[in-house]
Amino acid sequence: MSDTPAHRLAALTERLHYLNHQYYQNDVSEVSDPEFDALLAELAALEAAHPGLASPNSPTQRVGGAVTKQFATVPHRYPMLSLGNTYSEDDLREFDERVQKGLEGAPYAYVCELKFDGVAMSLRYENGQLTQAVTRGDGSRGDVVTANVRTIRPVPLHLRPAPNQPLDLEVRGEVFMPLPVFAELNAEREANDEALLANPRNAASGALKLQDSAQVAARKLSLFAYSLLAPGRTFGSHSETLEALADYGLPVSKTWRRCAGLAEVLAFVHEWDKKRFTLPVATDGIVIKVDDLRQQDQLGYTAKSPRWAIAYKYPAEAGRTRLLAVEYNVGRTGAVTPVAVLAPVPLAGTVVRRATLHNAQQIAVLDLRVGDLVLVEKGGEIIPKITGAVLAERPAEAVPIAYPTACPACGTALVRTEGEAHIRCPNERGCPPQLKARLEHYVSRKALNIDGLGAETVGRFFDLNLLRTVADIYTLPARRAELVTLERMGEKSIANLLAGIEKSKAAPFDKVLFGLGIRHVGETVARKLAAHYRSIENLAAAPAAEMAAVPEVGGIIAEAAAAWFRQPESQQLLEQLRVAGVQLALMGEAPAPASDRLAGKTFVLSGVFEHHSREELQRLIEAHGGKISGSISKKLSYLVAGENMGPAKREKALALKVPIIAENDLLELLAVPTAPPGAAPIGGGDEVPQLSLF
Ligand code: IVH
Repeated sequence: MSDTPAHRLAALTERLHYLNHQYYQNDVSEVSDPEFDALLAELAALEAAHPGLASPNSPTQRVGGAVTKQFATVPHRYPMLSLGNTYSEDDLREFDERVQKGLEGAPYAYVCELKFDGVAMSLRYENGQLTQAVTRGDGSRGDVVTANVRTIRPVPLHLRPAPNQPLDLEVRGEVFMPLPVFAELNAEREANDEALLANPRNAASGALKLQDSAQVAARKLSLFAYSLLAPGRTFGSHSETLEALADYGLPVSKTWRRCAGLAEVLAFVHEWDKKRFTLPVATDGIVIKVDDLRQQDQLGYTAKSPRWAIAYKYPAEAGRTRLLAVEYNVGRTGAVTPVAVLAPVPLAGTVVRRATLHNAQQIAVLDLRVGDLVLVEKGGEIIPKITGAVLAERPAEAVPIAYPTACPACGTALVRTEGEAHIRCPNERGCPPQLKARLEHYVSRKALNIDGLGAETVGRFFDLNLLRTVADIYTLPARRAELVTLERMGEKSIANLLAGIEKSKAAPFDKVLFGLGIRHVGETVARKLAAHYRSIENLAAAPAAEMAAVPEVGGIIAEAAAAWFRQPESQQLLEQLRVAGVQLALMGEAPAPASDRLAGKTFVLSGVFEHHSREELQRLIEAHGGKISGSISKKLSYLVAGENMGPAKREKALALKVPIIAENDLLELLAVPTAPPGAAPIGGGDEVPQLSLF
């Protein structure tokens, strides 16, 4: 096959669709994650270079990028109904009797499925291509969220043709946030002192409404399909429908079962009562559907729901246990949150020992006392919470809960800011858990991601007085002699730690800004502020009112950021970080202003790079007047090779005598200082330095 951009683009697209299908539908990883990402990045570069060739269902849409200002509302072709709910076996018996009567004694069977607790979604495929995704809305009209749904990896962007089946169809399914993703998201929110999401359903529905689809992609949503509406379909039962959905390449949970009658339905309900907690998706019941599609038609619909299906809801998992004590955690921003210590109680598949109490108000509203018998529920069956105390059984010795007035960690008098539910310890610079949490935040994966310096090591170094502020991290290399004397700190861990610290100096400015742990400055805000102000000097000099006008920032965040920059300790910290060589400006910005030194030069980026993402390198090249190309030709100036670069590229470049350079060579060309500080950027002149060719 000739290697034109169009051919390569088509081949990459097909390969990526295939790999996605293997991964999400067949559980097979044919390539490693970096290999997959490299293919995806190559496709993205090709599409960027040839916008006319990009298709709306390209695998690159998985990473998002499209921004929807306002979601359009459209009518559903077929209304999206809901299901009647039942809560008892008696209700199920009555449902079965109604079905029996409606079918006038003819034999029938059911299909039982789990009821996934997420957001209902309607997917339209035309000629096998995903063309529209619409939320349920009010059942007759919903919001168009296509760009966001395209980021959901298990949702095929085009269908595999199923023999004799139509390719124009409407698929219904449930979008959900897998439980491990939900747990990670909430852990992150907790670390940032942000309000926790009550359950995965809210998390999924919130994610679908995000305007920036790249952010939706980061939420790692998933979907299970459970129904299909297609005029030309040939199958006659719901069980065949589920099989057809899977044949089309749609994700169908394998948990469904055909049941001959009510007894088998009840057995299914019992079987999944506890087993459902082993699944990585929240479920709140069982959906029971008459299998035969003609019989479904015969039974018909009420105004709101089908007569041929019903949802059995498991009772909310609640338990009673003793409140043994209340402990107080101090978070990174000083928020003091109460945590209930409970006598262990089994609930919804796990043993609950602790529950959140949110804040002082909640303790007062519930009138809780230590020693009380309390009711514990799992909200969305994930985060245990206390819903009340059994006042009739309150022991005489139950002690009212006295909310602390001083910080449990450092003794400083606590303060409550008006309008905020949390009580805070204001001792930002001296309260140990706050200092420790700020260090942990700085080194965490989403911030500076310092290898060899995990939360545990940070805690240890803090206790040993080796670390107090994040700037102290950069003094560790000079204190090697002290480090080697520590237990469990071998040569290898030290080397790893120091390499991680060195590498963090090349982390982009927005990561550093996020890592500083300024109140309310989360990942997105840090990105927006970094993009707008481009350097810490500009940001520190900006008045709060101006910062508040940056999209996604607003008054509260701006005030918090401006207050942080006003503190002399912050100024000092920034000075120390600057000296250490940490990026306090966008790459290619001050101190190295954009230039035209790459004018007339074209580059192909291939593989995975050490210091920068491909996008950053691309921006850098363009900022210095260079161009990015998608394919290798004689006219190409350089092939910039990262790790895992495809062998075909290398061979072609060698054959055409195109110089192959490494990331560092490129950075030298650009005169962008990289770690270690002092690595001489090339001086004035127009001369291109000697590059290592390989
Ligand atoms: S079938 C006519 N099957 O539950 C409605 N729904 O109240 C047909 N759901 O809106 C829906 N898992 O969001 C069906 N396996 C499943 C389901 C399921 C979850 C949701 C769906 C629907 C609601 C019904």
